[in-house]
Amino acid sequence: MSHNQLDTKSQAWSALFSEPMSELVQRYTASVFFDQRLWRADIAGSLAHADMLAAQGIISAEDLAAIQRGMAQIRSEIESGAFQWKLDLEDVHLNIEARLTQLVGDAGKRLHTGRSRNDQVATDVRLWLRDEIDALAALLSELQRALVEVAERNVDVILPGFTHLQVAQPVSFAHHLLAYVEMFARDAERLADVRRRTNRLPLGSAALAGTTYPLDRERVARTLGMVDEHGVPQLCQNSLDAVSDRDFAIEFTAAASLCMVHVSRLSEELILWMSQNFGFVKIADRFTTGSSIMPQKKNPDVPELARGKTGRVVGHLMGLITLMKGQPLAYNKDNQEDKEPLFDTVDTLKDTLRIFTEMIGGQLNPATGQKEGGLTVNAQAMEDAARKGYATATDLADYLVKKGLPFRDAHETVAHAVKAAQSHACDLSELPLAVLQGFHPAIEADVYDVLSLHGSLHARRTLGGTAPQQVRAQIERHRARLA
Ligand code: ARG
Repeated sequence: MSHNQLDTKSQAWSALFSEPMSELVQRYTASVFFDQRLWRADIAGSLAHADMLAAQGIISAEDLAAIQRGMAQIRSEIESGAFQWKLDLEDVHLNIEARLTQLVGDAGKRLHTGRSRNDQVATDVRLWLRDEIDALAALLSELQRALVEVAERNVDVILPGFTHLQVAQPVSFAHHLLAYVEMFARDAERLADVRRRTNRLPLGSAALAGTTYPLDRERVARTLGMVDEHGVPQLCQNSLDAVSDRDFAIEFTAAASLCMVHVSRLSEELILWMSQNFGFVKIADRFTTGSSIMPQKKNPDVPELARGKTGRVVGHLMGLITLMKGQPLAYNKDNQEDKEPLFDTVDTLKDTLRIFTEMIGGQLNPATGQKEGGLTVNAQAMEDAARKGYATATDLADYLVKKGLPFRDAHETVAHAVKAAQSHACDLSELPLAVLQGFHPAIEADVYDVLSLHGSLHARRTLGGTAPQQVRAQIERHRARLA
């Protein structure tokens, strides 16, 4: 919402104040431009609080009914866009409460009994974030499924595995993709862990010290679903801590940053693989853009932007953690600054995960029931690249070890063989047997099995290795886990 859609009439805060805020101060201190997106959580929190106040006999059943009726109307006003957000009412909480009082009179004024905006906002942000974490968990599963699907079609496709971006050993393309599945699986675990600490109830802490009313905090927690896996209510146990710390938001942003870092690594690889010098993969045209001057260009804008947006999310982590530093107990207005970085982190991560899922896995065509437009793999280009750079040199060393040489001697022997192959501008597997035997007499004709890319790949059968049988087992495990 833009500022000029807001009603900016100014009033003094209360009878205690001799003048209204200046317009500049009002704009500086208000948060309603951005925190209005918490409205669903705010109404849910208020209804849970009101329900408990009535159950405890603190407000009447009639007041509760009036509050429920008023909130139902406010909900539909906000949904339809008819709700008048007012700048002089500062934030989402005061806007909704004022409208409630306008609609239902004194019952609306009783809602805030035993509550402060301090425990209210902490509750709202937690509720909102909890639901966003659930949405993110689903998106992370979809991205993993998309990667597993592409992996499944590419178990026997060989590309050069790199260390130091130098050709190292041949690996299965599926194995390479499954490395990212592992990363995203850990990201999901981290989010689930953050969710446990986010889903705890501050309400009942009031401004900072608790309240004199006989509140039933457990009832509120149950109503809001702030319970553990056994249904036990999860309450913040110290009122000062409950209203002031935002560590749950910080650790969420840290988990989101790591997830973006993983996306960024994948982006970097896609960008490299798409360059003409690699030519390993293509992404669908709708994820690329042309150049205004160079007609031949198709630029990988989506992965590049994802790599760029990683900086933005890591920046939000820095912003939030710095915001917390130096705040004395309990609530300080500094904490109002937690929202924009948090919201933008969620928006950026959600969009990024969605777009990557589609870019890699493709989009379902309802007419054919098939996914279309996902990652296109050029198996030949990958294999050709794996043939450059002596990717099977380690296999020759291992072969000599099996013939009885100590590994260090085998390593040295193979270095000589690679040097010879380089001077002939050929691969190790292209050296005649007699030449190879010149490096060591134990070398026999079966050496060519280990010098082939295929042989090298199939020989790495350790758990977690790149041999196709191992990779297939991993795909099965992920399929079962993600089902
Ligand atoms: N808009 C405020 C925030 O986001 C709500 C809490 C205000 N509390 C206060 N004591 N001024 O943090």
